[in-house]
Amino acid sequence: MKFSKFGKKFTHKAGITQLMDDLGAAMAGGDMLMLGGGNPAHIPEVQARFRKQMETILAEPKGFESMIGNYDGSRGNAAFIEVLAKMLRETFGWEIAPKNIALTNGSQNAFFCLFNLFAGEMADGSKKKVLFPLTPEYIGYADAGLSDDFFAARRPSIELLEDGLFKYHVDFDALQVGDDIGAICVSRPTNPTGNVLTDTEILHLDAIAREKEIPFIIDNAYGTPFPDIIYTDAKPIWNSNTVVCMSLSKLGLPNLRTGIVIAREEIASAISEINGVMSLAPGGIGARMAMDMVRSGEIMQMSQEIIQPFYERKAFQTLEWFREELGDVPCRIHKPEGALFLWLWFQDLPCSAAELYERLKARKTLIVPGHYFFPGMDHDDWSHKHECIRVTYAQDDAVVHEGVKIIANEVKNIYA
Ligand SMILES: Cc1ncc(COP(=O)(O)O)c(C=O)c1O
Repeated sequence: MKFSKFGKKFTHKAGITQLMDDLGAAMAGGDMLMLGGGNPAHIPEVQARFRKQMETILAEPKGFESMIGNYDGSRGNAAFIEVLAKMLRETFGWEIAPKNIALTNGSQNAFFCLFNLFAGEMADGSKKKVLFPLTPEYIGYADAGLSDDFFAARRPSIELLEDGLFKYHVDFDALQVGDDIGAICVSRPTNPTGNVLTDTEILHLDAIAREKEIPFIIDNAYGTPFPDIIYTDAKPIWNSNTVVCMSLSKLGLPNLRTGIVIAREEIASAISEINGVMSLAPGGIGARMAMDMVRSGEIMQMSQEIIQPFYERKAFQTLEWFREELGDVPCRIHKPEGALFLWLWFQDLPCSAAELYERLKARKTLIVPGHYFFPGMDHDDWSHKHECIRVTYAQDDAVVHEGVKIIANEVKNIYA
């Protein structure tokens, strides 16, 4: 059997797929401390609320039958889109109508569509790339281009902060955006670092994108108004040149695969059309589950009052545990500003982060080595890529605490 170029590209076992298989196999062995994944926590109050919502739907006449028995349109559940547009208009003053929204099967799927809409081989034969102006960036972008050499990426500037913290910034001095760039993309809050790009940085990137007449894609999977896993002040922006992508996953519904694209009409319609070809329509259970809570505003209240404090406490608790355990190990931690992760930078680590991953796996502790989070920077030999790890703090405290102790002990051995 012969696969096409497409087939080869998408089955060549990207590094991330190998890593995910490895993590999956390790987990299947049991008794692993999982500080490596991106699964959101099972927050009891949130799960109870979704259970109640499902019961309400089941109790409605024909509620269950219509939820499972009807296709939505290719743009996604129209009633949900309507209430979401209203909520965004009222909350942020964004000029959003239903025509500006399209749903996808998870936001991962949205990035695939968006990247390939704006980059790759263009209609005039030219080639364009998606630019990540600040890497480290989300691992899931790495293989989402239909052609090779699809991404461009820039190193950040590093601000050293007190108490062993640091923060990445966009290095605007080094950010030349050439005509080969078709879109700019950032995750905010950022997976893996927990960074939240400042309002100034976002406005500056927005201005550059407008000047170049290319879209600015903001991945808001952890952002406001839901799930709002942000511990710092950050103003959300949307305008006709931005594409804001949201998701119901980190709210606690990752298995309902619901992504939300908010963009100018032309782009939202394009997503709807791609949906039609690729999957007829996005699944509608997530939209149905979230609809009443969006209509009443409860989704924002739940995010602000339960989800955000839940993760914020865990972030700072984990930071404290690392400080206690690491002692004078030369480690800096990215200022935790959101998402589910701490990003640790071991300066001049005597082995690579990949080796550290293996050593920790042998001690039944799973993290993700940092070098995976540099999509578009394959040819950049920056040593920093091999000195960082991502640690997820979404698991139970006992698991995270035990994992922190093992990580700290192992790196102490390595430096010694
Ligand atoms: C930054 C970021 N964007 C997008 C996604 C994709 O999420 P989903 O496809 O579940 O919406 C993730 C998942 O971990 C993520 O961390």
